[in-house]
Amino acid sequence: MRILTFTGKGGVGKTSVSAATAVRLSEMGHRTLVLSTDPAHSLSDSFNLPLGAEPTKIKENLHAIEVNPYVDLKQNWHSVQKYYTRIFMAQGVSGVMADEMTILPGMEELFSLLRIKRYKNSGLYDALVLDTAPTGETLRLLSLPDTLSWGMKAVKNVNKYIVRPLSKPLSRMSDKIAYYIPPEEAIESVDQVFDELEDIRDILTDTVLSTVRLVMNAEKMSIKETMRALTYLNLYGFKVDMVLVNKLLDTQENSGYLEKWKGIQQKYLGEIEEGFSPLPVKKLKMYDQEIVGVKALELFSHDIYGDTDPSGMMYDEPPIKFVRKGDIYEVQLKLMFANPVDIDVWVTGDELFVSIGNQRKIITLPVSLTGLEPGEAVFKDKWLHIPFDLENQGQHQRTREMHKA
Ligand SMILES: Nc1ncnc2c1ncn2[C@@H]1O[C@H](COP(=O)(O)OP(=O)(O)OP(=O)(O)O)[C@@H](O)[C@H]1O
Ligand SMILES: [Mg+2]
Repeated sequence: MRILTFTGKGGVGKTSVSAATAVRLSEMGHRTLVLSTDPAHSLSDSFNLPLGAEPTKIKENLHAIEVNPYVDLKQNWHSVQKYYTRIFMAQGVSGVMADEMTILPGMEELFSLLRIKRYKNSGLYDALVLDTAPTGETLRLLSLPDTLSWGMKAVKNVNKYIVRPLSKPLSRMSDKIAYYIPPEEAIESVDQVFDELEDIRDILTDTVLSTVRLVMNAEKMSIKETMRALTYLNLYGFKVDMVLVNKLLDTQENSGYLEKWKGIQQKYLGEIEEGFSPLPVKKLKMYDQEIVGVKALELFSHDIYGDTDPSGMMYDEPPIKFVRKGDIYEVQLKLMFANPVDIDVWVTGDELFVSIGNQRKIITLPVSLTGLEPGEAVFKDKWLHIPFDLENQGQHQRTREMHKA
């Protein structure tokens, strides 16, 4: 089983590359499902076929779906919504408004993610291809399990130790209190969804199963956005195994008034190859027409993969490593484009926190490191090295200073 996620800036060719990858996978005999998680779906335009919120067969071994998280949200979150709507309405919020307020930020992404888990576990597919929304939203989607992990634990504990044990005795005290106590089925739904979210994180950060492929154009803003995306993907522990530079003008042919663009693209191409190394960078030409329909996608897929199988691992290096060198134990984190000044490292209990700007990663430390303070973190060759000295504990003070190697 393989899960391939394609992401990149708006309009760079994510949907075309995802659809082409899926076509190719199906041709190689893998039972494939391509899912669009972009609320502004265009997978059906790419295949030039109508698609719905359930898998539609495109051809032998190939299904496609445009996920509609609202359908799942209504089904799985119904009891929670009913409860909150009741509370909001008691506070004077009108019906429709109260209904809307029960959809928390991130809910739509959450239910798209649950679909991924469902199809992964269904046994019906050998490969899932995710065609996602432009970078920002996708990072939000992919970081959701991490972002929510602290809150999830807290809510689950509150449910377990406070809400559940107290709900019965409190409800007996007065009708007014009983009114505000969530019903068992709502507590159950919250716990269940949070449990599933943990499973999803395990699926997406399983570096044998899941990889992310970055699609970009040879343009300044596309490159910058992709570099930022890569930093955050690395931070969250997603393995990126390929970079695709799409819509390159053919250097052999005359491009008319676009001639100047060729020079610009070639200049940026050099920067991309250097910057994203050692990730493989695939160059894809700009066609003289749109890529629509299975036939065109098939052609495009040959440009992308040649004779190779898209389900292969294009670059195999885990984004987080735990390395022991004598008495020094190092947590190493690949952060290709991070600025050392923005990185912050600290430990609380058995959790190592690494933050870049407003994004934060929590890494659970091995038991042997619990209680140790990290030494001075060093940024070297695109890797952040965080040392823990097993012998001389206590010599190191917690550090928030970063030093360039
Ligand atoms: N190499 C290419 N040559 C010619 N046209 C291309 C190429 N790649 C993509 N296109 C066309 O560019 C348009 C945008 O591509 P696509 O929808 O795949 O991008 P996207 O990144 O998914 O966009 P969005 O961010 O809106 O989801 C489509 O009309 C597609 O057919
Ligand atoms: Mg798209």
